[in-house]
Amino acid sequence: MPLPLTRKAPAKINPVLEVLGKRPDGYHELSLLFQTIDLHDLLTFEPLAEGLRFECPGAPEGIGPDGSNLVLKAAEIFLGKYPQKKGVLIRLTKNIPVAAGLGGGSSDAASTLLGLDQMFETGLGPEGLREMAERLGSDVPFFLRGGTALGTGRGEKITPLPSMPGIDLVLVKPEQGLPTPAVYGSGKARFTGGECTRQFLELSREKGLSYLAGSLFNGLEPATFALLPETWNIKRWLLEMGALGALVCGSGPTVFGIARSPDHARSIAEKLRLPGRRVFVTRTIA
Ligand code: C5P
Repeated sequence: MPLPLTRKAPAKINPVLEVLGKRPDGYHELSLLFQTIDLHDLLTFEPLAEGLRFECPGAPEGIGPDGSNLVLKAAEIFLGKYPQKKGVLIRLTKNIPVAAGLGGGSSDAASTLLGLDQMFETGLGPEGLREMAERLGSDVPFFLRGGTALGTGRGEKITPLPSMPGIDLVLVKPEQGLPTPAVYGSGKARFTGGECTRQFLELSREKGLSYLAGSLFNGLEPATFALLPETWNIKRWLLEMGALGALVCGSGPTVFGIARSPDHARSIAEKLRLPGRRVFVTRTIA
């Protein structure tokens, strides 16, 4: 195997996120669709004589090598299971904004498990890594395979779905981030019963992009709008600029807009760039 090993860790959007109810364990029962996009972090894995080292050049806040980030947690869980497999330097290059609703930390964690499995030739594969992924966070199991998938439970139960058609996207991330627990805990989420997921899946089989764009739904959106009103404005501007649909990503605060073409996505992006704000032109990936 050529070393150092390099892996892309893609971000995600959720075209549908339904909050079905509150669970006794403090989590929320969800029905949601995941879709990976062509915006990614990069991880490299290099053998060392011994020990675990982590580097994240130019690390944004919240990614320090202090044991609190999900790459280190994932590596510690993996190496705890295989204590005889020692010696790795993991380098993370961040492109996905932190606390943005794009699943960057979860994707990095899944990529860490997949990278260590490959490097140490433990042969676990996505199925064998699932239990470790579930311990790391609700979104982590999805990123073991990526693509298009349905999530249930707290989001960790994954059913792969046929790929969606490629969709051009504009992502707008306000300067401020939002911690996921604050959004779920705000008391402002809208509860639904699974009908939005069913409708989206039906339309994705039978109809075109504009129908899909009209069926986007996120039950956390009212909570994100309440905590950070700028997100409501971003959604409105995206729609005014001709986006076919726009929605808060996961718990936010990033908002994605569906464009008609790559050129359309670029022209919307140009108009929404402001100091402090991060704007990306990207696409869904299978
Ligand atoms: O699973 P994860 O660690 O990513 O979740 C972070 C937080 O988000 C949880 O502690 C909880 O407050 C909230 N959450 C939730 N219901 C979910 C997923 C996350 O309430 N299904």
